[in-house]
Amino acid sequence: MAILIKGGRVIDPAQNLDARRDLLLEGDKIVALEADITAPAGARVIPAEGKIVTPGLIDMHVHLREPGYEQKETIATGTRAAAAGGFTAVACMANTNPVADSASVITFIKEKARQEGVVRVYPVGALSKGLEGKEIAEIGELAAAGAVAISDDGHPVMNALVMRHALEYAKMFNLPVISHCEDTDLANEGLMHEGILSTILGLRGIPAAAEEVMVARDLILAEITGGRLHLAHVSTAGSVRLLKEARMRGVKVTAEVTPHHLCLTDELVQSYDTSTKVNPPLRPADHVAAVVAALAAGEIDAIASDHAPHADEDKDVEYDYAPFGMVGLETAVPLVVTELILPGKLTWLQAIRAWTVNPAWILNVPGGNLAPGGVADVTIIDPELEKEVNVNEFYSLGHNSPLHGRKLKGWPVATIVGGRIVMEQGKVIED
Ligand code: DOR
Repeated sequence: MAILIKGGRVIDPAQNLDARRDLLLEGDKIVALEADITAPAGARVIPAEGKIVTPGLIDMHVHLREPGYEQKETIATGTRAAAAGGFTAVACMANTNPVADSASVITFIKEKARQEGVVRVYPVGALSKGLEGKEIAEIGELAAAGAVAISDDGHPVMNALVMRHALEYAKMFNLPVISHCEDTDLANEGLMHEGILSTILGLRGIPAAAEEVMVARDLILAEITGGRLHLAHVSTAGSVRLLKEARMRGVKVTAEVTPHHLCLTDELVQSYDTSTKVNPPLRPADHVAAVVAALAAGEIDAIASDHAPHADEDKDVEYDYAPFGMVGLETAVPLVVTELILPGKLTWLQAIRAWTVNPAWILNVPGGNLAPGGVADVTIIDPELEKEVNVNEFYSLGHNSPLHGRKLKGWPVATIVGGRIVMEQGKVIED
């Protein structure tokens, strides 16, 4: 069926476009993007006056937890959370059980996603066997099975030689290496950002340096190997400085930042709410301002949620014992709109670039733009729609969000994947 999206404000950073346009989809392809398109016979017309129409948003860092941790999330629930949040594609991390360090696990995830998923799912293969950081995984096998990147996310690679070899091998398959930058010795089993608040609250601190020394190491390794390094969840001013300096010298590096590191500070930890416990930890305002500025300047390329669902019983414990992570798929867009776009700290074009063309380029996956001939993946956002976050209404099995009860503006109202409407007005469409 043809779909005509009429009269929306189309924002397509790949074409540097921010203008009123009509968008026509036929089958699974975009067929026209013009000022005025007449609806073909039988087309479904979606009126989009006052709405933002963008290429389907891509979240390049989520945890779908399947196989192995289906009590936290499944491919079925996680992709529904993605669709509800306006995302047409997600890249899912390898810290499953079994770990995604073999072709069979990658194939399982892709097959499950085909059968039960509602958005595109791109598996990330493990960097090391069993995420143990000792021996690199069979990267060629993972690439052949369809892994779009390799990463031990959640498990920092402490051995620099292992990281060097991973960069060298991944380069042969043109895969990015996504690095969770954390020196676990410096992090010293900390629970929150090390600073005045951790002292006041009596919670062990994780210094910004635990991230920064690893960013520095990985940038050096990327430089000597020529491999493609992608820094996951950059969260400190020092990381931004190192990134900028390396980029200026031509190191092949890209980076992402999460909505929570862009919009929330460590002050939230004062509640002792375990949903604020995340790795890297929420940072004070000066670090937050630095990552926002780097995103606006294009020094950080992508916004990625690091959606990390945990079962209620996992998080319903003392702060010390709770696992790190917060969910993000269903609040990412309105959080960024409310905290950054509406107050003028980030433009729509900058934000949408970080959710579309940039992650598509980093992962070398389809979509990310609205040029005719491309895949019919589209997101429609209502910049005026205001709603209160209610974790009990999430499609995700994870309710671990510190945003529960917060009023946010700018919610996605339609998600279209390959020409199929998978979400309308916040509801996932089942067929
Ligand atoms: O907070 C986090 N949770 N950070 C990570 O790097 C891993 C993730 C998880 O898997 O729960």
